[in-house]
Order: sequence, then structure tokens, then C-alpha cells
Amino acid sequence: MQRLIVANWKMQLTVAEAAALARRLRQSRRWLGGKLVLCPSFTALAAVGAALRGSAIALGAQNVAGEDRGAWTGEVSPLDLRSLGCRYVIVGHSDRRRLGESDEAIRQKLRASLRHRLTPILCVGETLAERRGGRSVAVVRQQLTDALRGLTPSQAGRLILAYEPVWAISPGGPARPEQAFAMVESIWRLFRRSRPLLYGGSVTPATLGSFLDGKHFRGALVGQASLKARPLLALVNS
Ligand code: PGA
Repeated sequence: MQRLIVANWKMQLTVAEAAALARRLRQSRRWLGGKLVLCPSFTALAAVGAALRGSAIALGAQNVAGEDRGAWTGEVSPLDLRSLGCRYVIVGHSDRRRLGESDEAIRQKLRASLRHRLTPILCVGETLAERRGGRSVAVVRQQLTDALRGLTPSQAGRLILAYEPVWAISPGGPARPEQAFAMVESIWRLFRRSRPLLYGGSVTPATLGSFLDGKHFRGALVGQASLKARPLLALVNS
């Protein structure tokens, strides 16, 4: 399976900076050994999409509305994400859950994405307090059960799952690979089938390899190390 690196630029780059980084990445002479998806902020989608047009690098969004249109002040429709050239969308990131995004909202967002042929990258992960309380597996299983309720097996099969322990996201340190592998195995037991996930949380070119064991993880969701061309290309190509 081809390696997948999803760059989550969060709110770290201005539109001009995001477009410049996208141009730099597409001009790189380093052959892209894996697949790269760039997820800039909503306001930078058009400029980054224009910079990537005709390249093998894909465009994704960091969030999406759960409805196509209506009185949803400040939300962004999946229709617009499609027309801006997005093929992926991050759903349920811990930054959004921290802002109060509910399981019900996440479920609507998954459905809206699938309806418009956007591939959702569904993030799950426990906080430090939940891990210390011995509740990591229960929390992640609950997040998945809530998010996927009502989806058909074929719809669920179109999602990409990302395990991001909240405590491991920068400025925390990465999880130990065996902690992450154990969680993946619990997720597999829930689904009664084993498909590799994405790992997220302080991934760097130096640590990525220890997670990509060819079985548990097929790639990574990367924040901090995706903000400069050199480490990002190293993550894709190493
Ligand atoms: P990080 O972010 O790589 O900076 O830890 C990952 C994420 O929040 O998706």
C-alpha cells in the first residue's frame, strides 16, 4: 500500500505562505515516493489548489459542514470544498473536539463528505487524563462507534482512520510505537478486520519509520513537521 502523508497546516500559514509552500513542493525534483495531501486553512484552499493543479499532490480541507447549505453562519459547505478541488477532508480533529464538536456533528460531517465524494480522514484519540485513567481504549472505541453509527460497511470502508493520541500532538512528544500499535489492534478488534491506519502526533522524518511497520500504519497526519518543504518531502520520500 502506498504511503500517505497528510499535511495539516492548521492555522499556521497565511494564504501567501501556504501558496508559496505548495508551489515549492510541486516544483521539487525529488520524486514523490508516497502520496501527499495538503490541508491548508479554508481561506487558502483556492490559492493552494491553483498551485497544485496538474500535479500528483492532492488537496484536502481541515473541516467541513455537516449540511450542504442553510443558515449555518461561519460553516463551509462540502459543495464548495468539491468545487475548490478538495478530495479529502479531516473530520473530528482533537482541536475541533476541544472547541466542542460533538459526536453527532462528526457523524453529520462524515455523511456530508461521503455524499460529495470527499474522502474523510476521521481522527480519534484519547487525552492524557483519559490515558492515565486507563480509559484510552474505551474512549477511542466510543469515538468510533459514535462516528460510524448508521454508515453502511461500504461507506465506512471509504474512510481513512487516523489515531492521534491528543497528548502526543506537538508540543507533546510522540507516542511510543508499541503504544500506538496496541491501540490499532484494539480498533481492529472492534471492526473485526485489520486495515492500516494513519498515525498522528509529533511525527518527524526521524520518527516516522518506527510507526510504519508495514502492518499497523500506512502513513501519518502531520502538523508541525509539514510546515516546511524539506521535512515534508523527507516524510513522503524517506
Ligand atoms: P503535530 O500535529 O504533528 O504537530 O503533532 C498533528 C496533528 O495535530 O494533526
